[in-house]
Amino acid sequence: MGKKISSSNSGSLVLWLVIMVEFSLLFSSVFCAEISTRQSVEGNTKGSQVLLHRNKDIVLIDNGLVEVSIEDPSGYLLGVKYKTMPNVLETQNINANKGYWDLVWDNDAIDKLVAERMEIITQTDELVEVSFKKTWKPTADYRSTVPLNIDKRYIVRRGVPGLYMYGIFDRQADFPDAHMDQIRIAFKLKEDKFHFMAVSDAKQGMMPTAEDREAGRCQVLAFKEAVLLTNPTDPRFKGQVDDKYQYSVENKDNNLHGWISDADAVGFWVITPSNEFRTGGPHKQELTSHVGPVSLSMFVSAHYAGNDMDSFYRKGNPWKKVFGPVFIYLNSASPDPNQGYRNTLWNDAKRQLREEIRSWPYNFVASEDFPHSEQRGEVNGQLLVRDRYMDKNLMPAKSAFVGLAAPGNAGSWQTEAKGYQFWIQTDDTGLFSIKNIRPGVYHLYAWVYGFIGDYKLDRTITIQPGNKVQLGKLIYDPPRNGPTLWEIGIPDRTAAEFFVPEPNPSFVNAMLKDNADRFRQYGLWDRYSEIYRHGDIVYNVGVSNYSKDWFFAHVPRKVGLNAHRNTTWQIRHNLQEVNEAATYTLQLALAAASHGEVQVRINDPTAIQPLFTTSRIGFDTAVARHGIHGLYRHYSINVPGNRFRRGENTIFLTQKRSRNSFQAVMYDYIRLEGPAV
Ligand SMILES: *[C@@H]1O[C@H](CO)[C@@H](O)[C@H](O)[C@H]1NC(C)=O
Ligand SMILES: *[C@@H]1O[C@H](CO)[C@@H](O)[C@H](O)[C@H]1NC(C)=O
Repeated sequence: MGKKISSSNSGSLVLWLVIMVEFSLLFSSVFCAEISTRQSVEGNTKGSQVLLHRNKDIVLIDNGLVEVSIEDPSGYLLGVKYKTMPNVLETQNINANKGYWDLVWDNDAIDKLVAERMEIITQTDELVEVSFKKTWKPTADYRSTVPLNIDKRYIVRRGVPGLYMYGIFDRQADFPDAHMDQIRIAFKLKEDKFHFMAVSDAKQGMMPTAEDREAGRCQVLAFKEAVLLTNPTDPRFKGQVDDKYQYSVENKDNNLHGWISDADAVGFWVITPSNEFRTGGPHKQELTSHVGPVSLSMFVSAHYAGNDMDSFYRKGNPWKKVFGPVFIYLNSASPDPNQGYRNTLWNDAKRQLREEIRSWPYNFVASEDFPHSEQRGEVNGQLLVRDRYMDKNLMPAKSAFVGLAAPGNAGSWQTEAKGYQFWIQTDDTGLFSIKNIRPGVYHLYAWVYGFIGDYKLDRTITIQPGNKVQLGKLIYDPPRNGPTLWEIGIPDRTAAEFFVPEPNPSFVNAMLKDNADRFRQYGLWDRYSEIYRHGDIVYNVGVSNYSKDWFFAHVPRKVGLNAHRNTTWQIRHNLQEVNEAATYTLQLALAAASHGEVQVRINDPTAIQPLFTTSRIGFDTAVARHGIHGLYRHYSINVPGNRFRRGENTIFLTQKRSRNSFQAVMYDYIRLEGPAV
C-alpha cells in the first residue's frame, strides 16, 4: 500500500545468465622512456626518425628509444625492446599471449580479434601509424568469431619512449545479434623481470609470481581468483592473500598503473589519459595490473555491475566506437642500491600521465573516427541544488559529478556501455565546463555529494564540431518529501563511511595498508557472523554511530559450512508525535546489490507482507570483489502514518536472500522523512 518506487538504476531486462565475466589477461604494453633524456615528448624533432621495417610476418617500428614488433597480419604485439631489455613482454609465451586485444562475447567465448591485413596509415620521420584490420563476413560457422569489424592501430612517435594503441570497431546493420561483455588489451610482462607493481601512490609493492598461484603453492579461497599463498617461491608472501580484484580502481582514478623491473630499473606503464571510451561512467571499477605479471587496459566489462550493463548489440543497429588511444610508456633510471629508482620511475610516470592528459585529444591520431580538439565541442553551466528542508536558498552543487552520456533515464550512465561519456567535477560554486566532447547527441547527468538521487537535464544536447553550449543555471531537486527525522550514512554512493572491520589475520594482503583500501581485504563478509554472533544489528537512532555500528554490507549469516540464513537489521527510533493521516517517506539508497533483496517492515517483524521489497536485485558482486560499491539504486518508500506509533518504533530491514555469502546489498544512505510541512 502506498508505496512509490523510483529506482534510478535501469532495472535491466537483460535475460542472459549470470556471468561473472572475469578474465585474467595480462597485458602490458611496453615502451621505454628514459628519464634523463626524456625531453623528447614535447620536442618531436629530437631523437631519431621513426623507421618502419616489414619482414615476412613481422612489422618493426623503431624510433631509437623503443623498437616495437607486431605480428603481420594478426596484429599481435610481440615485443617492445627498451634499454637493457630485449623484450619487456614474456618471450616464452606464444605470439597470441604477449600483448593482445581480446573480447568476450556470447556465452563467454573469447575472441582475440585477430586481424587479416596490415596497412600503413602514416609513415614519416616523425611518426608511424599502422593498422591491422579484419572485415567480418558471415560464414557457415559464423558463430566462431564475434560479428565485428576490427581495426587495431599502433602509433610510434619520434622521441617518445612508448607506443600508442587504439582500436576502431564497428558493426554493420546486418550483423547478427551479439553480447559483447568485455573488451580490453592485455600485456603479459617478462616474468623473471617484473616483480614490483604500482597501482597508486599507496598501492605499490613486490608481488607474488604466477607460479605462486598454482596448485601446491596456494589454497583457493571462496572463489578462484582469491588464493592464500601457502608455499610461495618467496617466503615473504607466505600467509598472504592474492586476488586481482584487490587492485581494482574506479575509472576516474584508473589512468596509470604498471610494473618495475628491478634488475633493469625499467618501468612499464599503462597510461589512460581520458575515460571517454570507457563504460559505466566515472565510478565504474575495473582491473588494473595483477600477478602474472599482467597489465590491463580495460575498455568494457561487467565488473562491479554485472548483467545490468547494456552490452547487447542488436541486428539492425549499426555501431562504431573508438577505444583509446592508450599510451604504453617506458622509463628507466639508474639502479641505485637504496632503491630510490622506484620512486623516480613512479613519479616520472605520473609526470608523463599529466603530459598525456595535457595533449588530449591527441592531434597526431590519423583516424577520422577520432576527432581532434577543433572538431569537438564544449558544454558549460552551473549546477545548483534546491532542497528547502535543508536550506531556503539554492545551494551550489559542490564537487558534483556532471557528465554527458548516451540519452537515457536519470542514472542510466552507470550501465551504459556503447557510447562515449564525458565527465567532470564542478567547483565549489557548482560551475562546470566539459571540454573535448565528441560530436553527437547526449543527455546531461549529474549526482551531488550529500544528496540522494540522480540529476538529468530534461533536454538532449547535440554537440557539433567547435560549438560551445551554454546551459546557464541548472537546478537539481533531489528526492525529498518532508523534513529529516533521522538519517544513517552520507549520500555518496558508497558504503565507505560505515563499519568496515579489520580482516581476519589469516587473510591479509599487506599491500592494502592504506586505510582507504581497507575494504579491499579478503573475507570481510565472514566477519559479520563473527562480530555479531549474538544477534543481528540493532541501531539506536541518536545513540549508535554509523561508523561503528552499521556494518558496511548487509550479508547473510553463516550458520554452517555452506549454510547461510537471512539477516534482519533493526533501526530503533523515537517519534514524539505521529500524524496517522499523513504520509512519511523512507529514502533508501543502495550502494551495491548482488542477488540481494531488502524487505522493509515497520514495528512488526513477522508481518507476512513487507511494507516494501526491492525484489531480488543486482549482479554487481561488489562484496566478493572487495568493492565498496557497485551500482547505485534509490527507492523512495511511502509509509502511511498509521504504521508508526508515538514513542519507540522499529524499522526492520531484512536481507532475504541467503544462498551464499555474496547475496548481499550495501547501503549508501537511509533517511526517514516526516510529512510535508
Ligand atoms: C563515530 O565514530 C567515529 C569512529 O570511531 C568517530 O570518529 C566519530 O567521532 C563518531 N561520531 C560521533 C558523533 O560520536
Ligand atoms: C528468514 O529465515 C527464516 C528462517 O529460515 C524464515 O523463517 C523467514 O521466513 C525468513 N524471512 C524472510 C523475510 O524470508
